[in-house]
Amino acid sequence: MNERLFEELDWRLRVFDSLSFPTLILKPDKIILTANQIFLQRHGVTLEHIVGKHCHEVFYGGDSCPNKVCPFTKVLSEKTGTSVMRRHTTRTGKRLYEDRVFSPILDDDGNVAYIMESVRDVTRQKNLELALKETEAFVEKVILGSPIAIVAADRYGHILLMNPAAEELFGYANPFAVRHITADQLYPPGIASSIMRQLKDNKGKLPAIESTIINSIGERIPVELTASIIYEDDEEVATVGIYTDLREKRAVEKKLKETRAQLAQSEKMASLGQLAAGVAHEINNPLTGILFYATLKLENLSTEDPERADVQAVIDDVKRCKEIVQNLLAYSRQSSPMKDIIQLNAIVSQSLTLIRDPKMFRNVRVEREFSEDMMLVHVDKNQISQVIINLVMNAVSAMDGTGVLTLRTYRDKAANRAYLEVIDTGCGIPPENMSKIFDPFYTTKKPGEGTGLGLSTAYGLVKENKGEIRVKQTSAQGTTFLLEFELYQTIQDIEPT
Ligand SMILES: Nc1ncnc2c1ncn2[C@@H]1O[C@H](COP(=O)(O)OP(=O)(O)OP(=O)(O)O)[C@@H](O)[C@H]1O
Ligand SMILES: [Mg+2]
Repeated sequence: MNERLFEELDWRLRVFDSLSFPTLILKPDKIILTANQIFLQRHGVTLEHIVGKHCHEVFYGGDSCPNKVCPFTKVLSEKTGTSVMRRHTTRTGKRLYEDRVFSPILDDDGNVAYIMESVRDVTRQKNLELALKETEAFVEKVILGSPIAIVAADRYGHILLMNPAAEELFGYANPFAVRHITADQLYPPGIASSIMRQLKDNKGKLPAIESTIINSIGERIPVELTASIIYEDDEEVATVGIYTDLREKRAVEKKLKETRAQLAQSEKMASLGQLAAGVAHEINNPLTGILFYATLKLENLSTEDPERADVQAVIDDVKRCKEIVQNLLAYSRQSSPMKDIIQLNAIVSQSLTLIRDPKMFRNVRVEREFSEDMMLVHVDKNQISQVIINLVMNAVSAMDGTGVLTLRTYRDKAANRAYLEVIDTGCGIPPENMSKIFDPFYTTKKPGEGTGLGLSTAYGLVKENKGEIRVKQTSAQGTTFLLEFELYQTIQDIEPT
């Protein structure tokens, strides 16, 4: 062999031997031509053992190859390299993963003369990959199963992930719909960009803030939001938002606030009632005295006496004072009701006929929306008439004589309640006045036009008759006062058990 050729062969053999992966050279018919040193070492064989053998004899020790698909077919037909991953278990039970790379070695005519097969042990990488997959699957399960709504979006705002809790919160049950929205559509205008700004100002982490989202049907929902930007190599790749629905918490807070206000209101009414009762009692006796002596004086004066007019004025004013005292006593529930069983509709109709000044109704259309259901109530009809008259007078004056007054009755048999609504189209009650309207002497009317005893008297009388009175709603379009009484049950009403 000439020296050049020897040298050429020598370095090629050395390269082959120094490959760090176990490597074989095979003929296209899968007969082993040679193997490098590391292959022999790993498999504990010598060249004599394997040269001339079929590859499956060396790898699997059998007469035939257990693999249905052989990479040789691909290498031979396409003349390009290919690789397969093989898993096998060693005799000691250790699971190994091998990446077997098959590369064609072409002859001068471009045909596959030999195939080089390198075996790379990728057990470590494969185990890491499997562990990662397991971790990913676990994280996915945690995210998907979380009762907290989680949404991730890419840097352009496209939704990457919306867990089932978020789908429920945002109302996107269809994953297809989610693909067609962007993160800014989940918030009222301007909010998404403000959140992004805060995120960037806080190094990509936003501690819990209260915010508002918009669901798929346009409803605004209060939420607590925490968000963070996910970076990869200092590059922003996604944003994750975690949302807690605050609707239930808000509803509980509102209820608590209302209950506190109601409690404060009834405490105030109770102490004002005591005060009113005290004043009324103290004043009632001297007034009775003044009225008695003034009436006596009038009777003793001759019909022409010029003093008659003065004494009559004293009597009229004392009577007015006594009326106020009566109202105060009604408010402080010192009057004793004389209860009858009566139809609620009948009391309402009767009250309307009792209103002294029909001129008040000039431009007021009165609508009666009476339920035809049986609505018997056990009340003092005169007292409840007074309540209705007070409410109607207030409604008419709130409408300044022009508008629609609706009197609506209905019942809730299951709750055992009968209701009357006095609805006006008047000016409404400003929120800051709401806590004061039932106070005695609270009025927004000019002096001489109202004493501010109408609602406080009504409150006392309704309570005396075991009912409820409240403002059901009020706005610049009008006010609805609601009266509520227990339904009186007749024998037929009581369901047989
Ligand atoms: N339907 C209503 N619409 C708007 N405001 C109302 C209505 N009813 C009551 N109010 C407000 O509540 C206040 C208190 O009412 P209340 O009936 O106790 O006294 P008043 O009507 O002012 O005087 P009085 O009834 O003694 O003649 C009123 O002055 C008014 O400001
Ligand atoms: Mg009034």
